[in-house]
Parts: sequence; structure tokens; C-alpha cells
Amino acid sequence: MEALKVGLLGLGTVGGGTVNVLQRNADEISRRAGRGIIVSHASARDINKPRICQTDGIKLTEDPMEVVSDPEVSILVELIGGDTLARELVLKAIANGKHVVTANKALIAKHGNEIFSAAQKKGVMVVFEAAVAGGIPIIKAIREGLAGNKIEWLAGIINGTGNFILTEMRDKQRDFDSVLAEAQRLGYAEADPTFDVEGIDAAHKLTILASIAFGIPLQFEKVYTEGISKITREDVDFASELGYSIKHLGVTRRTEAGIELRVHPTLIPKRHLIANVDGVMNAVLVKGDAVGPTLYYGAGAGAEPTASAVVGDIVDVLRVLTSDPENRVPHLAFQPDSLSNTPILPIEEIEIAYYLRISASDQTGVLADITSILADNGINIDSMLQKEHSAGEDKSTIIIITHTTIEKNMNVALEKIHSLDVVDGDLVRIRLEHLDAD
Ligand code: HSE
Repeated sequence: MEALKVGLLGLGTVGGGTVNVLQRNADEISRRAGRGIIVSHASARDINKPRICQTDGIKLTEDPMEVVSDPEVSILVELIGGDTLARELVLKAIANGKHVVTANKALIAKHGNEIFSAAQKKGVMVVFEAAVAGGIPIIKAIREGLAGNKIEWLAGIINGTGNFILTEMRDKQRDFDSVLAEAQRLGYAEADPTFDVEGIDAAHKLTILASIAFGIPLQFEKVYTEGISKITREDVDFASELGYSIKHLGVTRRTEAGIELRVHPTLIPKRHLIANVDGVMNAVLVKGDAVGPTLYYGAGAGAEPTASAVVGDIVDVLRVLTSDPENRVPHLAFQPDSLSNTPILPIEEIEIAYYLRISASDQTGVLADITSILADNGINIDSMLQKEHSAGEDKSTIIIITHTTIEKNMNVALEKIHSLDVVDGDLVRIRLEHLDAD
């Protein structure tokens, strides 16, 4: 049978990796898919630029619309990123009756509802495994492997660049900017790296995970998002002394009141497997009611790990091309007319524990003032450290780990602590997750 022709938009890190994997593993892939797969037409911003892949036999163009309109192309693979031109190209490809494979988390998180509805009407597939956690097949795991479960919560390290930065800062005392520059050189970071360090990339991915876990429409605008740019060496060290690692987590949890949807730096007990996920690696912990906790681990960024997910999706599309379009795996795991309107909780309503670092004058009664404010707001202390500043300075740093409380109570307490005369300088709050299985 003639090989299936794929059109590729973007020949950068992931595009180049995808061509390499398709070429290198051509025999193995065709044994799995029942038919060969070749990239016949590809677009790049500058077709004369040196590449990580061999492009002989591929028709190259600088106009992506040419690929989208090529009648020979059955599957359009979108790897250009961004959500403006990419949206236009993907919608056009769908209108032209092509199936779409994309690694674009911003596109799916922000425009997925519109794209899936267009695809549904046209009877084509849109698949996006590479959009979340790079090479880890987390979407298939939740959407298909865990389809028998009621998912209770999931928590993941889903930005490789951020995890790489935190790990290098902790283990090698490197500074933030030099590690970020290295992540950019290695092709891990987004075109705009503030997406990595300010949590936006993780929020895109969490939006997608929450939808397939709970059967809700994609709601990127409702994710509470905090990045890693304010994490200091000091906090990393104090947390470690108390038995915790600081990781940048995306967390979504079903509660009686609604769904928590949040991305922020988080203390995690060091004994937890996910606390030991370092470098560019990603991991997602998923708690299903039947299976219990399950953990998925692997490279979260980079040319071939991401290409692994892209090629897996191409093979999947090829395999189901002959199946009934009405009975394919739904885009968001649940049937489109069965999505629920469970509310997303504002961050003030979540229940969580905290790490607090308070810089205060070393005077009698300071600790009592702080602890009584916490008590007045119903906040229980779990553990505490007090560090004296260097000789000559009458200052101390108080580190407190609390039990869980409602975030709005903590906001009130922090405002009161901040207004104490003896409290000056830093008042840091980092959320803490025990990630217990029950
Ligand atoms: N910039 C992303 C990351 C790439 O570092 O995780 C993979 O989505």
C-alpha cells in the first residue's frame, strides 16, 4: 500500500526531531501502522537554514498555507507554535478535510473548544499528545487507559525548562539567567521563555489535563498561575531543612464545591517520588478512584522526546482512519455533548497547607504575635524554624509550615502579619502539597 503522506508545519526542534524519528524508525513504524508514513511537504520560515534533519525528498516551502492546501497531504502536523497563525492554519486544514496532529498547548488550551467543534463537524481527528509533558503519553493514559476511573485529582511537573532551572539552581548553585540560557540553547524553552518561568506554559498544559480528567470544557483563563521567578536559594534551602523539595506544580482537583485549577511553586515532602523528578524531566501523578495513584515520568521537552509523542499520534490517526468517525476516542475524552459545567474554584477558595518565611525584628513577643494571628484565623502550625541573622543584626527569619486551611483565611492572616511593626522585609508564602493517596 502507498505510504501515507504527511504535511509538516515547522522544521525547528520538534519538526526536525519528527522527521528524524519517522526516517530512522520507518520500518518499525510501518510494521505498527500497517502502512509507511512519509513527510511529503513541509514549511519553514527560512528553508535555507541549517537543520537537524535530512530533508531530501521533502517538498519545502516558506508558505505554510501551501502545505495546508496540498490535496496529497492526509495528515497535517502543526509544529509552529503560537496561537494566531497556528489557529488559522489548523482551522483551514480541518476545513480542507485533513486530520491534524499538533504539539501546540497554547493553541489547544485557548482555542481547543472551537477547533474540536470544527473537527467534529468535518469528521476529522485532532490529536495533541505532544502538547502535554513532551514524550510522556499522559493524554492517552488518562483518556484511554484510565477511562474506567473517576479521576479525583492530578498533580504534575509539566514544564521541563522550569524544572531544569530549579534543579540546576539547587544542585549546582547556578544562577537563574545562565540556566535559562542553557535551556534555550537545548531547545527546551518556549519562543518567549517567560511562558516557562511565569507558569503560562504549565497553565496551558494543566488546562488540557483538567478537561480530559474531568470532562469539562477547556478554560485556560480560569487557571490560577504563578511562576518560579520569585523562588530564592534561601527558600529552597529552608524547605530542604524541613524535609521538603520545592517544585513547580500544576494541580487540578475535583472537590464538592468545584474544580481546583492552579499552577504555582509547591513544597512537596522529599520522600515523595515526584519530589525527586529533576532536570528537564516531567512527571504527572494521577489519582483515580479505581486504580489509586499512578505516576507517569519522562522527558518533558526536547526534539526526539516530543517527536516520539507526535509520531505516536500520526500512527494513531492512521490506525483509526478506517473506523467509524462517530465512534472515535473523543477529543476531550468525554463525549462532546456530555461535558459538565462544574465550576472552577477561585484560588481564594482552595484548601491547602503553606510554607511561610517571615523576616522580623528579634524582639520578645514577635513569635507570639505571629502565631496568635494564625490561630485567630483558624490556622494550625505544623512545624517551625527560627534562624538568627548575622551578628550585629537584630533580625531573625521565622519559617513556618502550616496545616491545611482555606486560602482566603491565609490571605487575611498574612495581611495582619505584614502590618505588624516588627515584621519587615520578606514575607514569603509558598503552597505545600502532601499529595497523599487518600
Ligand atoms: N517549554 C516547554 C517545557 C516545552 O520546557 O516544558 C515542552 O512543552
